[in-house]
Amino acid sequence: MIMIRYNHPLKEVWDFFILGLTVLTGIEIPFRLAVGYQINSTLLWVEALVTLCFALDLCFNFFTLHPRPGHTGNYSLGDSRKRYLRGWFTIDLIAALPLFMFSLVELSGAGHLVRLLRLIHLNRLFKLSRAANSIHIWKKQHMINPSIFRLGQFLGWILLAAHWIACIWILLGGTEFDTSRLAESYVDSLYWTITTLTTVGYSDVTPHTMYQKLFTMLVMMVGVASYGYVFGNMASLLANRDVVKASHMKKVEEMQSFLRYRTIPGRLQHKVNQYYEHLWESRLSHNESEVLKDLPVPLRVEISLYINHEILKKVPIFSEASDEFLGDVVFYLEPMIYPPDTYFITKGDKGERMYFISSGEVEVISEDRQTVYATLAEGDFVGEMALLLEQPRTASVRTRTYCDLYTLSKSDFEKVLKHYPDFSAQIQEIVEVRAREIDRTHN
Ligand code: CMP
Repeated sequence: MIMIRYNHPLKEVWDFFILGLTVLTGIEIPFRLAVGYQINSTLLWVEALVTLCFALDLCFNFFTLHPRPGHTGNYSLGDSRKRYLRGWFTIDLIAALPLFMFSLVELSGAGHLVRLLRLIHLNRLFKLSRAANSIHIWKKQHMINPSIFRLGQFLGWILLAAHWIACIWILLGGTEFDTSRLAESYVDSLYWTITTLTTVGYSDVTPHTMYQKLFTMLVMMVGVASYGYVFGNMASLLANRDVVKASHMKKVEEMQSFLRYRTIPGRLQHKVNQYYEHLWESRLSHNESEVLKDLPVPLRVEISLYINHEILKKVPIFSEASDEFLGDVVFYLEPMIYPPDTYFITKGDKGERMYFISSGEVEVISEDRQTVYATLAEGDFVGEMALLLEQPRTASVRTRTYCDLYTLSKSDFEKVLKHYPDFSAQIQEIVEVRAREIDRTHN
């Protein structure tokens, strides 16, 4: 049995093709109705082809698996069909009816019914709402910025509406329509539409009959209402264009104004600015746990695992660990950034946390800051000895460069050790080597 996934790339291309065809139909049909030009045999072929495409679309939709809201999977084919029959089927069917056949009556020049029959072609316009639904599904799939999408969709509708208004204006006899100057006459009508919709109103084209006046008032009101919508959306789009960046910039501006207010020396201000730059580049500007706190725990773990997969890959004791262990540990890891030349561990202090190095270099040094015991880099960890051996810090640790670290608090470290003996054994091994080295250096 043939089945089509609703989000299959080829189906998406097809949906866009149908969307384009529907929009073109939405442009051509009102124009034909307004101008009342005779349909020729070429146009008839085009009509037949469009109908065929819409009929094919109807068939494809019968074999499409639709997404099941609230589930990761799709409906079965049977259920998808039932939903389709209850939903968009009627619209698709109306659009696919070969009503262009009536144009044959037109071609053969039969009767006064012709003008009325032309209205029948409007059946295709229903398909526009269907096409709008397809892009809505596409938007959900591709995480398009909702404000940009809303604005784009609105602009599309307003352009189409402007065309329809221009066509109605022609029908009402608002602009003198000369079929030998088809394009110019249409532009005249569109010009009136745009000047009225945007409430510019140059009044070089004015309504004369009662219907024209009524219609003009309606168009003005639509124009004013859409203005509000467009500007409201534009404002929200600009404000929310990049919420993360905006909130980072706000933090930076607040800090800068504070530093100026407290007349902090330029050298220190420069250091603070560099820190914020590094914070932004390392993508640690946002407190992850704060941002993710609204999500359910399993989803939070999944995101944390993704965000922290770099550090998990770099630290050898993590790269071989089980998924269960990583899922637990990743939850406890907290990112931290230190600028160069920062002492974040001091010999003799009580140990509260250990650190995994994601990037940068640190030096393990003696209390008098004269002897460097070791230089550690990406993938190494420090500060585990005081936690494991329940003793004061054995050395001081200083950053040589900007360092992105992930820290594990003492209580979380103990929880992990208790549940994962393998991890405990690996840390123990490294601690023994380091302790021996410190003893050797001291003696
Ligand atoms: P801790 O004693 O908690 O604080 C200082 C840290 O420096 C220590 O844990 C170890 O993580 C680290 N450290 C101490 N000695 C060495 C060494 N010889 N080589 C690498 N790291 C060390």
